[in-house]
Amino acid sequence: MLPDIMNEYTETILDFEDDVLKDIRRLSARDMDNVPILRKDAAALLSVLVTMHKPLKILEAGTAVGYSAILLARFCLEALSDEEKKEFRIDTVELSEERTLVALKNIERAGLSSYIRVINGDAVEVFNCIGGQYDMVFVDSSKGHYIEMYDDMKRLLKTGGLLVCDDVIFYGKINDDPKEAPHKHRTIVGRLRAFLDKLAADKDFVTSLIDTGDGMAIAVKKGNLSYDNE
Ligand SMILES: C[S@@+](CC[C@H](N)C(=O)[O-])C[C@H]1O[C@@H](n2cnc3c(N)ncnc32)[C@H](O)[C@@H]1O
Repeated sequence: MLPDIMNEYTETILDFEDDVLKDIRRLSARDMDNVPILRKDAAALLSVLVTMHKPLKILEAGTAVGYSAILLARFCLEALSDEEKKEFRIDTVELSEERTLVALKNIERAGLSSYIRVINGDAVEVFNCIGGQYDMVFVDSSKGHYIEMYDDMKRLLKTGGLLVCDDVIFYGKINDDPKEAPHKHRTIVGRLRAFLDKLAADKDFVTSLIDTGDGMAIAVKKGNLSYDNE
């Protein structure tokens, strides 16, 4: 895995954050709670992906204080026509009530409240009970639960839709033998590996793993799906 060079280099040359995003990053780093938001190299990659893919409906797990939802909305809205903008929506789910409230304030300050719905709840349960079809699913909640959410991520994604899962390399520990990982990491490494094994073996997705951020899985749901025939 690359050290932090790409992130540091991204910091120095790419300036894609508006004032709201810059403030969230500054406060998140300073905050005693140390709210984890997307690393800047991962944020840059997401901005490129959505500019290419132009999703109209996005589902996110793990809002934190709204950084990624605001970033996604900004770049999508720039890429969409006026007609498409009317349909654009992000549904984003956050477990912490406190963070949900901060996210709502940040989204309002960004002028994006009409586009982003923040749901305070457990993404595992919310993904399981909602319907609809999304052009993009971005998963950035608790890594240990990605495997439980797999079937719902897939069900909720349109054919041709983009799945992005953050933090899948887990500081490089993903390649360790779960039995030899420190006890506190054993379960999470085992679950993340089960998730990545399932995604990699799933013929309904074309998948790539990259070492941006803390590792991202990027997959596109293909047509002619076995899933649709089940
Ligand atoms: C890495 S942070 C998300 C960062 C955010 N996507 C960003 O870049 O601005 C992970 C967030 O997921 C939330 N979380 C953890 N487990 C969750 C769950 N089961 N459902 C919803 N949110 C969860 C945490 O409270 C935390 O705020």
